[in-house]
Amino acid sequence: MIKIKNLHKSFGNFKVLKGIDLEIKSGESIAIMGRSGTGKSVLVKHIVGLLKPDEGEVWVDNIRVDKASPKELMNLRRNFGYVFQMGALFDFYNVFQNLALVLLENGKKDFNYIKQRAIEVIKMVDLDERVLNLYPSELSGGMRKRVSIARAIIHNPKYIIYDEPTTGLDPITSDLINELIIKLNNELKTTTISITHDLRSAIKIAKRIILLQDGYKVFDGSVEEALNTDIEEMRKFREYFGQ
Ligand SMILES: Nc1ncnc2c1ncn2[C@@H]1O[C@H](COP(=O)(O)OP(=O)(O)OP(=O)(O)O)[C@@H](O)[C@H]1O
Ligand SMILES: [Mg+2]
Repeated sequence: MIKIKNLHKSFGNFKVLKGIDLEIKSGESIAIMGRSGTGKSVLVKHIVGLLKPDEGEVWVDNIRVDKASPKELMNLRRNFGYVFQMGALFDFYNVFQNLALVLLENGKKDFNYIKQRAIEVIKMVDLDERVLNLYPSELSGGMRKRVSIARAIIHNPKYIIYDEPTTGLDPITSDLINELIIKLNNELKTTTISITHDLRSAIKIAKRIILLQDGYKVFDGSVEEALNTDIEEMRKFREYFGQ
């Protein structure tokens, strides 16, 4: 269970978040929407303690994240898989090494286990085992996303955060990635937070949508409610995406 209470965050004089309340129950799949720069990435970074609020509280499973010690944060982050907006694979490591690193950080030392688990997750994201020997620069954008997803699930996290999992991909590849996210949601029974600009993707991959605008959460409801609400900003997204 994730609980965010009255979260405020500024950078210099610029107020990004002006009092966000958000509760995400175990097993939920939610999408966070909003225009560029509305603070979607900033909001989720608070959940894993990458940013600290100026005001407010962040709780994950009864741990106060914004007051957590470095050791508590390290333990907390083991419960998370994070697919970063920019992919963030290590360019000097091949795919296997990128995956293995997560398991090493999680205290797994048995090489055979690491190898077998790497093969398992690379297949779960519908890539061939041979991809393990490639370097990030040798992958297409879609493959890189899949590897980032494989890396996010390899340690069996309870929570997965996808920050713009389909941005920069062609629409067909985007749909394949969305299907992968849905498949993993169903198979792994994780709590999933997806950030996306794309209302069509949000409808597919999430059951609940929240919308940020000007530092506030202006909508929070089911997909069906999102498709019917009169909230102006949501209507604009619907119009744009023809929904
Ligand atoms: N570490 C930081 N230092 C200063 N400003 C920051 C920092 N991180 C984010 N910001 C600012 O906060 C605002 C919100 O950024 P954020 O990355 O959360 O937007 P976003 O909603 O994720 O946008 P996008 O859809 O383009 O990814 C932006 O104006 C950004 O420049
Ligand atoms: Mg972002």
